[in-house]
Amino acid sequence: MKTNDLPIGFFDSGVGGISVLREACKILPNENYIYFGDSKNAPYGTRSDNEIKDLTLKAIDFLVNKKVKALVVACNTATSVAINTLRDTYRDLPIVGIEPAVKPAVEFTNSGSIVIMATPMTLKMRKFNELITTYSEGREIIPMPCPGLVEFIEKGIFEGEDLHKFLMNKYKDINIDDVGAVVLGCTHYPFIKKELSKIIDENKIFDGSKGTANQLKHLLEDRHLLNNSSTTGNIEIINSLNDNYLNELCINLLNLNIK
Ligand code: DGL
Repeated sequence: MKTNDLPIGFFDSGVGGISVLREACKILPNENYIYFGDSKNAPYGTRSDNEIKDLTLKAIDFLVNKKVKALVVACNTATSVAINTLRDTYRDLPIVGIEPAVKPAVEFTNSGSIVIMATPMTLKMRKFNELITTYSEGREIIPMPCPGLVEFIEKGIFEGEDLHKFLMNKYKDINIDDVGAVVLGCTHYPFIKKELSKIIDENKIFDGSKGTANQLKHLLEDRHLLNNSSTTGNIEIINSLNDNYLNELCINLLNLNIK
């Protein structure tokens, strides 16, 4: 098979990375994709950095063995812990990572605080602090670790009373009127945007999925790796739990219409 026809590997700790795959499919519909979600070991964000690194390397190795032409680490947590190691390990493979969309959020408004919702690990890592130093432009940044939120999405819960209570509890000490923007710094979170927008104006909510898909497109263009086929590509979804329910959930998430 020609390199251009090979699939692009997508990885996340679970079903969250589908929010990025969905954006990639919109702008690169003719590409073939393999998505691997490690729901068996999710959530990653409350594990140690060594555990996350080991799990990520194992998952990426699995995708590389499937013969992919590029990789997208569609997980903020895995990107913050393992992206440098991955790039050192697979030097010839184009690798795109995702990070919280702080820059567009800061550019959106010149007043108000910027809340960053993410896993505890993403917010703890040096990469996040560097991101804030580079893009915050002196704005008040409120890191909001959300352990427990990924579990809702892995169970297929995107709205409802329990989720609303969870989110209200997260925002209980925050003056909503002072919030200029909210960044969803975990690829699972765009799926609960509808519930979150009952608390925060949805125009103020940002995530990195479109930016990451655009970056993938540019990288493939630069390396002359775009698939030139004129037909829609295939999407293969694999999950470490090997469970029909999760495959169906991923297919539903792929088709879910979220702005
Ligand atoms: N979806 C992942 C992220 O973007 C991590 C979720 C988790 O497993 O904790 O950070």
